[in-house]
Amino acid sequence: MSPSDWSPESWKSKPIKQWVDYPDQDEYAAVMHELSQYPPLVTSGEIEQLRQELAAAEDGKYFVLQGGDCSETFDACSSDRITSKLKILLLMSYILIYGSRKRVIRLGRIAGQYAKPRSKDTETRDGVTLPSYRGPLINSPEFTEEARIPDPWNMIRGYSHAAVTLNFMRSLIAGGFADMHHPEYWELGFINLSEHSREYRHIFQSISTSIDFMEIVAGKIDSLAETRFYCSHEGLHLPYEMAQTRRVPRRENWYDLTTHFPWIGERTRQLDGAHVEFFRGIANPIGVKVGPTMTPDELIKLVEVLNPKNEKGRLCLICRFGMANVEKCLPPLVSAIQEHKKNLLWISDPMHGNTHSTANGLKTRSFDDILKELLGVMRILDREGTHLGGIHFELTGENVTECTGGARGLTEDDLVKDYQTEVDPRLNYEQAMEMALLIAERQASFRR
Ligand code: PEP
Ligand code: CO
Repeated sequence: MSPSDWSPESWKSKPIKQWVDYPDQDEYAAVMHELSQYPPLVTSGEIEQLRQELAAAEDGKYFVLQGGDCSETFDACSSDRITSKLKILLLMSYILIYGSRKRVIRLGRIAGQYAKPRSKDTETRDGVTLPSYRGPLINSPEFTEEARIPDPWNMIRGYSHAAVTLNFMRSLIAGGFADMHHPEYWELGFINLSEHSREYRHIFQSISTSIDFMEIVAGKIDSLAETRFYCSHEGLHLPYEMAQTRRVPRRENWYDLTTHFPWIGERTRQLDGAHVEFFRGIANPIGVKVGPTMTPDELIKLVEVLNPKNEKGRLCLICRFGMANVEKCLPPLVSAIQEHKKNLLWISDPMHGNTHSTANGLKTRSFDDILKELLGVMRILDREGTHLGGIHFELTGENVTECTGGARGLTEDDLVKDYQTEVDPRLNYEQAMEMALLIAERQASFRR
């Protein structure tokens, strides 16, 4: 049950990071009122279902695939983009089911991933300094004074874009999605370029044979009605989260109904801070990003605040150390969690600790660094007597050029060809598929 000393507004009395001040407080109040009147984006029933599945993941029965853009943009809310994102996540989940022989919980960074934490409050270009861009939920990316002023109406725009995104995804899933049953639509040309092409072809052949077999036994599978898909985003902008945090009939708890699974970012996880205060009272399953500065002591305190009853299915630790730090940072944290017998799920985010800038100033990540961190996390968790419960990627269903490496061997010079992200670099379609194949191979070899 939500704690008695908590309310959806109790975070306001705590110190808050990444805050924005709206210059027009009357307009802000009007937006908050409007947003709190709208119907929720997700339901408490779906949230409870996800909690049960995450509890089963802690017992090794499910595996989590969480992925999507670093920051969604409003103009990427189009049928092509949504379809391609859903397709890449569903295909990756098939590959992971093959590799792990577990059900996969599909968790998009989608339908609300609109607010971004920034390392600096301001940005300077050619001697001009302006407030930083904080994602479309807050302000606009153009480098002008006006664009960078926080506009509360962006919260209504964010809500509306999240609603149409969810609506379209739900229809695609409920109505069947032809791409999924036809391996000939899976765009697998990149496989021939890889040194692992034989293994990759073998996995796809097995998946394709299984679909054929299922269709012979069970008849044509033309609906994916049984395919569940959940959404998630960083719960960074607390006014937006609070406006949709409600009690629902016949349930005791408070739910944040903007998304199934909100998470606390690396920059806002202070024990005495506003974000931890807000998150401790909502009944959703939640994540916390855990980076290199976390200590075992602080981690145990945080876990106790966020999951005081040590319930399964409540808490995921999403670790993001960077491949060079994993061996040093992860083992003491895992030992502490094991020693205190805390119930939670370990997820690896091998993206956020592996970002660097190229000579011409583009942010990028290398496919090999990402894979190295992920395999390191798998190995350490296994060695410490627990297991990796899921993976968290920034990815897109298009063939953008933002990360280097993969079967096509993208170099830093190739990045300018189709570099689209406004924030962090994402794996493209081919790189994401290949990453899933390599993980599936590793999972299959763990079973052997
Ligand atoms: C993110 O997930 O986009 C992000 C900002 O991550 P982190 O909080 O781990 O830096
Ligand atoms: Co990011």
